[in-house]
Amino acid sequence: MCGIVGYAGLEQAAPILLDGLERLEYRGYDSAGIAVLSEGKGLQLRKTKGRLKVLSALVDGGKALEGRMGIGHTRWATHGEPNDVNSHPHLSQNGQIAVVHNGIIENYLEIKEFLVSKGVHFCSDTDTEVVAQLLEYFCLQNGGNIMAAVYTVLDRIEGAYALGILCKDLPDSFIAARKDAPLLLGYGENCKFIASDVTAIIKHTRDVSYMEDGEVAVVSAGEIKVYDALGQPVEKEHSFIDWDVSAAEKGGYAHFMFKEIMEQPEAVRKTVSPRLKDGRVCFEELSLSEDYIRGLKKIFIVACGSSYHVGVVAKYNMERLLRRPVDVMLASEFRYADPLVDQDTLVIVISQSGETLDTMAALREAKKLGARILSVVNVVGSSIARESDDVLYTWAGPEIAVATTKAYSTQLVLLDMLGLYFADIIGSVSKEEYARLAEELQALPTKMEKVLENTEEIKYLASRYFNHASVFYIGRNLDYALGLEGSLKLKEISYIHSEAYASGELKHGTISLIEDGTLVVALGTYTPLFDKALSNIIEVKARGADIVALTTESRRGDMEKTVENVLTVPDTHIILQPSLGIVPLQLFAYYVALQRGCDIDKPRNLAKSVTVE
Ligand code: AGP
Ligand code: GLU
Repeated sequence: MCGIVGYAGLEQAAPILLDGLERLEYRGYDSAGIAVLSEGKGLQLRKTKGRLKVLSALVDGGKALEGRMGIGHTRWATHGEPNDVNSHPHLSQNGQIAVVHNGIIENYLEIKEFLVSKGVHFCSDTDTEVVAQLLEYFCLQNGGNIMAAVYTVLDRIEGAYALGILCKDLPDSFIAARKDAPLLLGYGENCKFIASDVTAIIKHTRDVSYMEDGEVAVVSAGEIKVYDALGQPVEKEHSFIDWDVSAAEKGGYAHFMFKEIMEQPEAVRKTVSPRLKDGRVCFEELSLSEDYIRGLKKIFIVACGSSYHVGVVAKYNMERLLRRPVDVMLASEFRYADPLVDQDTLVIVISQSGETLDTMAALREAKKLGARILSVVNVVGSSIARESDDVLYTWAGPEIAVATTKAYSTQLVLLDMLGLYFADIIGSVSKEEYARLAEELQALPTKMEKVLENTEEIKYLASRYFNHASVFYIGRNLDYALGLEGSLKLKEISYIHSEAYASGELKHGTISLIEDGTLVVALGTYTPLFDKALSNIIEVKARGADIVALTTESRRGDMEKTVENVLTVPDTHIILQPSLGIVPLQLFAYYVALQRGCDIDKPRNLAKSVTVE
C-alpha cells in the first residue's frame, strides 16, 4: 500500500533510496519523494507526482542531493489526491522534520484542527502531514527532544502507521515506528536500513528483523537501537533472507505478471513436494493435534480479493472432503458481521502479502472470539504470519505484479492438500480417493506446464475480444468459483468491466443483460455438471452472446458441438481442476490488457499490498 525505505551509511543516500523505491514501486506508485540530511546542505527534500522515474530525473539520479542518511516513499494515496504537494515526505512547518508514512491516521482531522487553532499552517490535504506538524509542536514544547516528541505523538495518533522520521537536530540517525503496517530493519556492513519489505534492501543485506507494533527504532550507520512502547530497549530477533535476488527481477520477460504466470508450475512444485512424501500429505509445520482435527466443528475461511477467491474454491472442496461446515467470508465483512466463531472454530486466514489490514483485523477479531488461527501466507515473517497460531507458507517466491497469479495457484493447492490431510485424519475420505488425489497432486505441475505450452489460441482470442466493454464469466460449482478469479484478473489489468455469475442463476434476472455480441467466458471444467453448464451456454448463445468456452480435454468434442471458441485444460482430479482452469484465464486477461496497452504490472488505482482499511 506504499513503499518506505530509509538508509544510514557511508555512501551517498539518494541513489540508494531511489533504487530501493524502484523495488518497492509495485506497492504504490501515485507519487514519490526522498529527503536526505547532511551537515553541509541540511535537510534536502524532493518529491513529485507520478512514477519514480519522474523523481529520479528531478534529482539527477540522486546526484542533486548530498548526505549519507535519508528516507524515501512511493505513495498509494488514501487522503489527498496524488499530486506534488500531497507526496511524501511531509515537512513540519519549520522545515526541521521530514516524515514518510504508510497507513492511515484515523484521527487526523481533529489533530489538524487542534494544530490550526495553534497557528500551524498546513500545506497538504493528507492525513500524514499531521505527524510532521505534531512532532514539531511537541518538540517546541519539550525543548527539542525529538524522541520524547515521537512517543507523545505515537500516543496521540490513532490508526495504522509505518513511519520514517528525519530530523535536522538528529544528524547521525533517523527514527522509525510502526503499528499495523509493515516495517523491517536491515543490518548491513556499516549501513542500516528500514524498508516496507525485503525487496528494497536485499541487494545490500539479507540480515533483517521485523518491527513489532509500538516499537520505535533509532537507525544510524553503525547500529539500530529498538525500544518498546514504554521506551525500554528491545533485543530484536534477526532473520536471514535466503531469497534468490533474481526472483525479484523480470528475468527477460516483458512483465512481472507474465513471468509469474510462467513460474506457476515451479511455484506449485515447491509448495507441494515438501509436503507430499511417498503419496502421503504431511504438514510438519502444523501444531494441530489429530484429536483437535477430529473434533473440528467448523472452519471459517477469511481473506480479501484473489485470496478470498481461493477460499470460495476451498469451501466447495473442503466440505466435499470433510463433510463438515466450511464458511468463507470477505475479511472486510467478517470483522463487522458478528461472526459465529468460537473456540471450536478453526479460522483459516489467506494472504499473499501477510500484511492486508482488512485480513489482519479479521484475524484479530477471530482470535478475540476464541478461534484458532491457521494462516496461509507467501511472505515469510509477515505480520499475519507472526500473529497466527499456525502458518503454512506458500513457496511461490516474491510476487511483484500487482495482479496475483502464482500466489493464487500455490494457495489453491495448499488448501486442497490441507483438506485432504484433514479428511484422512477425520476418516471422511477413502484410501482409493486419497491415493488418486495424491497422484494428481504430484502430476499437477507437469499438467500446468502443458497448459502454458499453448498460449497462441488464447492470444488470438484476446486479439478478437479486447475491445468488449463488458464480459461475463459463467460457471457452476467450482467453475463459478474459478470465474470469480478469472473476472478479477481481467478487471484489474485491462480495466474492462466483467462479472462472474453462477450460470444456473443467470435466468433469474441478469440474463437480461445478454445481447448481440456480449462476450461470455463459459466455464465447463467441472465435469459433473457439464450438461447443465452446456444448457446455460445455449441459453446465452440464443440471445446473441459471443462465447469463449473452457473445458477439459475429455469434453472438448462435446463442447465443440455448441461453441466455436473452445479452450481446454488437461483432465485431473475434480478437486484440482480449478488449479489448471485458472491458467488460461490469467493468460486471457494478460493478453487482453497487452492489446489495450494497459500498465499490466502496475494497474491504475491499485497496490500490491492493501495495508489500509
Ligand atoms: C489480486 O490480484 C489483487 N491484487 C488483490 O485482490 C489481492 O488478492 C488482495 O488485495 C489480497 O491480498 P493478500 O493476498 O496479500 O492479502
Ligand atoms: N495515508 C497516507 C497518504 O494518503 C499514506 C498512504 C500510503 O500508505 O501510501 O498519503
